[in-house]
Amino acid sequence: MTSYQLPSSGLEAVLENINLGVVVVDAECRVLFWNRFMVIHGGRLPDEAVGRSLFELFPDLPERWLRQRVRGVLTLGNLAFTTWQQRPHLFPFSGTRPITSQLSSMYQNCTFFPLHNGQGEPLAACIAVTDATDTAARQLELERLNALLEVEKEQQAKLIHRLEEAQAQLLQSEKMAAIGQLAAGVAHEINNPVGFVYSNLNSLRGYIDQLTALVDGLQAQVQACGNAQLIEACEALGRTSDYAFLREDTPVLLAESRDGLDRVKRIVKDLRDFSHVDNGEWQLADLHQGLDSTLNVIWSEVKFKAKVIKQYGELPPVQCIGAQINQVFLNLIVNAAQAIVEHGTITLRTGTLDDRVFVEIQDDGPGVAEDLARRIFEPFFTTKPVGKGTGLGLSVSYSIIERHNGVLSVSSPPEGGACFRIVMPCRQPAPS
Ligand SMILES: Nc1ncnc2c1ncn2[C@@H]1O[C@H](COP(=O)(O)OP(=O)(O)OP(=O)(O)O)[C@@H](O)[C@H]1O
Ligand SMILES: [Mg+2]
Repeated sequence: MTSYQLPSSGLEAVLENINLGVVVVDAECRVLFWNRFMVIHGGRLPDEAVGRSLFELFPDLPERWLRQRVRGVLTLGNLAFTTWQQRPHLFPFSGTRPITSQLSSMYQNCTFFPLHNGQGEPLAACIAVTDATDTAARQLELERLNALLEVEKEQQAKLIHRLEEAQAQLLQSEKMAAIGQLAAGVAHEINNPVGFVYSNLNSLRGYIDQLTALVDGLQAQVQACGNAQLIEACEALGRTSDYAFLREDTPVLLAESRDGLDRVKRIVKDLRDFSHVDNGEWQLADLHQGLDSTLNVIWSEVKFKAKVIKQYGELPPVQCIGAQINQVFLNLIVNAAQAIVEHGTITLRTGTLDDRVFVEIQDDGPGVAEDLARRIFEPFFTTKPVGKGTGLGLSVSYSIIERHNGVLSVSSPPEGGACFRIVMPCRQPAPS
């Protein structure tokens, strides 16, 4: 066994009492020197440790790794280190600061260095063990707090996003409410004149029918009397006033005016619905029946454009104003049919989500462009040609679903197609 002469008594006392583990080992990792720190934490007196292998004293030491380290120090004469982050507990010492269960073992930084003889030849390896539990405890606590902060930051970012969404929705419902009031006023103002024009137009058609019958009768009488002068005068009058054309064109004009008025009436009705003027009855309705009957009403408009696939789930009766929900179905299905360019598929999908139900109306048309997705729910927003769309269908539908405490949304993947989704509760909350 290699012997090693310790320095003078002063140095020996320092080595002995320093708050640092000092172990000197030979090339075989047999202990040559063992200070007080090692006695306290290793639980063996120097007599019990010196001369024995480190692996006998601490069977859990990483033997291969440690032997390599000691050999490296002795043959190359280099220093080597391990920190508590790489090898938290090289020696199985109890924690000096047992704050948490994680810190019940001592965290250590270790330095390996050679001890030389007078000729500069490495004789032994010294392992200096620093107790790093304090630093480790602080660092680990900082890491833990940092992780918590990261989680909190993420939650805050999500919250801000949700707030932004809520604000956008609030803005939209405020806008809807303001426009609703305006629409109610406009609908009211238009409704009266449209009412009397409509009824006058009906009377006018009757009068014109009578007048035409009168003129036709007079003409027939004149023809029958055989008075050539009278017949000629009568025909001249007919030519001057272009009676034949008037007779033919007046009913056409009247019919067109009636169609126009019908359109105005429809718009007024939409405006009234939109502004909640006509409140229907709350009832428990079968939404599948609603979808089916709505589809029947508009079948003539849909059948040439699309095949309809029904993927109905199980739905409980849903508390709603049936007429209004049907109006939403109608708007969405007509939109889907109108969006399809030549011929496509409309899928009607239903199902439940806990105590809510969903209805999806999906088409395989070109879809809704991303920049339009927010605007399509605005009243009077339309991309359809004049006379084809009023731009009220979706805004009316949106406010109806909102009144049912539900949400109407759209998704439109880049590859095309639009899916309008209604999610609403089966039962309405009790009015507060
Ligand atoms: N399924 C769909 N696919 C693509 N775009 C759609 C679809 N549904 C609605 N849109 C777009 O949203 C716009 C607004 O729809 P909305 O139903 O409110 O009005 P409209 O259909 O134009 O007129 P109308 O008042 O007659 O319903 C449409 O003009 C269209 O651009
Ligand atoms: Mg529409």
